[in-house]
Amino acid sequence: MAMRVISFVTQKGGSGKTTLAFCCAVAAQEKGKRALILDMDPQGTATAWFKDRESETPTLATIKSSELADAIKKAEKAGFDLVFIDTPGRDEPATAAAIRAADLCIIPCRPTPGDMKATPPTIATINRLKKDAAFVLTQTPPRGYRNSEADKGLSMLGMVCPHLIVTRNSYQDAQGRGLGVTEFEPDGKAAEEIRELWKWIIKKLEKIHER
Ligand SMILES: Nc1ncnc2c1ncn2[C@@H]1O[C@H](COP(=O)(O)OP(=O)(O)OP(=O)(O)O)[C@@H](O)[C@H]1O
Ligand SMILES: [Mg+2]
Repeated sequence: MAMRVISFVTQKGGSGKTTLAFCCAVAAQEKGKRALILDMDPQGTATAWFKDRESETPTLATIKSSELADAIKKAEKAGFDLVFIDTPGRDEPATAAAIRAADLCIIPCRPTPGDMKATPPTIATINRLKKDAAFVLTQTPPRGYRNSEADKGLSMLGMVCPHLIVTRNSYQDAQGRGLGVTEFEPDGKAAEEIRELWKWIIKKLEKIHER
């Protein structure tokens, strides 16, 4: 498969863009892929995670929107399989640039009215640019009506990933140590969730490619 770009977008702060980006990048690497994280958020959360990390991979580069096209060209030349773009939690030129560059946009969303209400502008940009996208429910309770209600609501706007990312300490503790959850606690539930999510994303990318 040629190089694929996945952008993590939503203007809602704290919904889980950075967490999903680095956890998925690590999961992809564990499956033998060469992964690059592009941090486009001036807050630099992914960059801070990388600085706390001992391993040099996945590779991470901190870039401005004006540098994105060039960074993607270089990534292709360097032989990366996957690029994970982390974006700011505000609607900015960086968000639109990341969406434009993406093969697939992942929209993390907590099952809360605030997160749900914040998604339409992101969806509008994705639709305008005719991009494939999927919602991922994050920081969810392990089960219950909040998740099913959120799933129902988001389904009206677009595709919803069937795998939940539950609220678990391991996501926070892994971040603090510069690890993905699959490295931090390989046999834990968070690791299992991320592996399932990653499997689902890869299948989606393959289907998009077949079209
Ligand atoms: N599934 C989860 N369980 C517990 N904590 C989580 C989970 N996902 C994310 N968090 C925590 O929630 C906070 C916000 O997550 P994260 O930084 O990934 O969001 P973000 O969308 O990138 O935010 P911003 O818009 O500010 O960049 C972090 O402290 C992170 O550790
Ligand atoms: Mg972030």
